[in-house]
Amino acid sequence: MRRAVELSKANRLINHGPTVLVSSAHGGRRNVMAAAWSMPVEFTPPRVAVVIDKSTFTRELVLASGRFALNLPCRAQADLAYTVGSVSGKGAEDSTRADKFARYGIEAFDGPLLGLPLVAGCVAWLECRLIPEPHAQEAYDTFFGEVVSAQADARVFDAGRWSFRADNADLHTLHHLGAGLFAVPAQTVQAELLP
Ligand SMILES: Cc1cc2nc3c(=O)[nH]c(=O)nc-3n(C[C@H](O)[C@H](O)[C@H](O)COP(=O)(O)O)c2cc1C
Repeated sequence: MRRAVELSKANRLINHGPTVLVSSAHGGRRNVMAAAWSMPVEFTPPRVAVVIDKSTFTRELVLASGRFALNLPCRAQADLAYTVGSVSGKGAEDSTRADKFARYGIEAFDGPLLGLPLVAGCVAWLECRLIPEPHAQEAYDTFFGEVVSAQADARVFDAGRWSFRADNADLHTLHHLGAGLFAVPAQTVQAELLP
């Protein structure tokens, strides 16, 4: 049920503050980590910001490759999100240790534009080209990216918006409350303009 999302609507995929999985690859190595701190920062061209700590292996791959992807895990993937956010891929270049994809049996497919490893079973995927901002990266661990491809699972994101319903509860996005506890968007409210 994976469908392309118009780039002009890409901001809607992360507007509600879901936890994302940041995937990256460079020089034959690949990795994935969780990030609760990401947000859209521009409609057109679609731009995003994500915090990637200096301690992470992800940061090395993003800086080396100039690209990253945001994958949105769903309720059914809470354990996966928590695990890849709790274990570092550092050392995976040592052939005696598998990368996190192999270690946890995470299925990946190639991103359509940048060929980044995207996590199967997620409900949305954004490939981003890094917009180098050395000061923001160094001082605030904040990385900016321009979204160049966007896709979503049409069972839960259709016609440019999320549709969180009781019959697709396993596909709802995850919102981190801390220490592995996540909330899911149980209810939505359609606002109307005041008269
Ligand atoms: C739910 C969750 C959210 C997280 N959010 C962030 C984040 O926004 N930024 C960050 O740098 N680390 C965050 N982390 C921690 C990284 O995912 C963690 O350090 C990870 O092991 C790094 O993996 P790597 O070294 O393989 O890149 C989060 C962890 C969890 C479990």
